[in-house]
Amino acid sequence: MALIDCKNVSLGYENRIVAQDLTFQVNKGDLLCIVGENGSGKSTLIKAILGLKETESGHLHYGDGLTAKQVGYLPQQTTAQRDFPASVFEVVLSGCLSSKGHSLFYSKQLRQKARDNLEKLDMLAFQNHCYRELSGGQQQRVLLARALCATGTLLLLDEPVSGLDPLATAEFYKLIRRINRDYGITIIMVSHDLQDALSLATHILHMKGDGAFFGTKKAYLESGVYRAFTGGESHA
Ligand SMILES: Nc1ncnc2c1ncn2[C@@H]1O[C@H](COP(=O)(O)OP(=O)(O)OP(=O)(O)O)[C@@H](O)[C@H]1O
Ligand SMILES: [Mg+2]
Repeated sequence: MALIDCKNVSLGYENRIVAQDLTFQVNKGDLLCIVGENGSGKSTLIKAILGLKETESGHLHYGDGLTAKQVGYLPQQTTAQRDFPASVFEVVLSGCLSSKGHSLFYSKQLRQKARDNLEKLDMLAFQNHCYRELSGGQQQRVLLARALCATGTLLLLDEPVSGLDPLATAEFYKLIRRINRDYGITIIMVSHDLQDALSLATHILHMKGDGAFFGTKKAYLESGVYRAFTGGESHA
């Protein structure tokens, strides 16, 4: 059974439908990239998968034993969030919040988990730095470590490289690949860059407002949706 099963889903706000007829599955180990123009409903779909937004119609289910607690989330960034006044370690540790239970304090194990995830993302040396003093690329790595504290199963990333320079973007993608391939974490990532999406993805969901294409990367590259979007130009 799939981790996420989405069938004929429509999404909207106050009776205005922003995305419709979305049908796709996400299986363990997949790296699904969601692409589409601004306003095509990508972030809205991420919110629906997180259970923060109800669907207007259709079915959206977790499967394979997945629970909401096992879903890590890296939201689309706003400027205010970049100015967060806490240490890197505190930001990452806050990803363990749902494992903390009713205790006021984080256990030794959870503090170690935060350090382990910082290490995985090559950011352990920065643990005592102030988060808001880091570069954009370093901040994204810290937020990725935070999301990893929340899950070992499924990560949702909404435009994680927006605002990063090409070098920081390439480094961030290398980490995404490592997390997916080496740690076996399933990833759903929104990207506005088709070329980046194609270099990473196993599957593509291309949202168009009035429908969507879903399939393997290979099927997408052979599809009319891809040809129409790129005007026949090859990005692969
Ligand atoms: N809270 C909201 N209330 C009403 N309409 C909203 C809300 N959030 C988003 N929308 C509208 O829903 C549509 C889809 O928005 P969404 O943010 O999901 O698009 P997106 O594909 O993520 O766009 P972008 O590429 O710019 O991030 C847009 O027309 C947007 O204006
Ligand atoms: Mg968005």
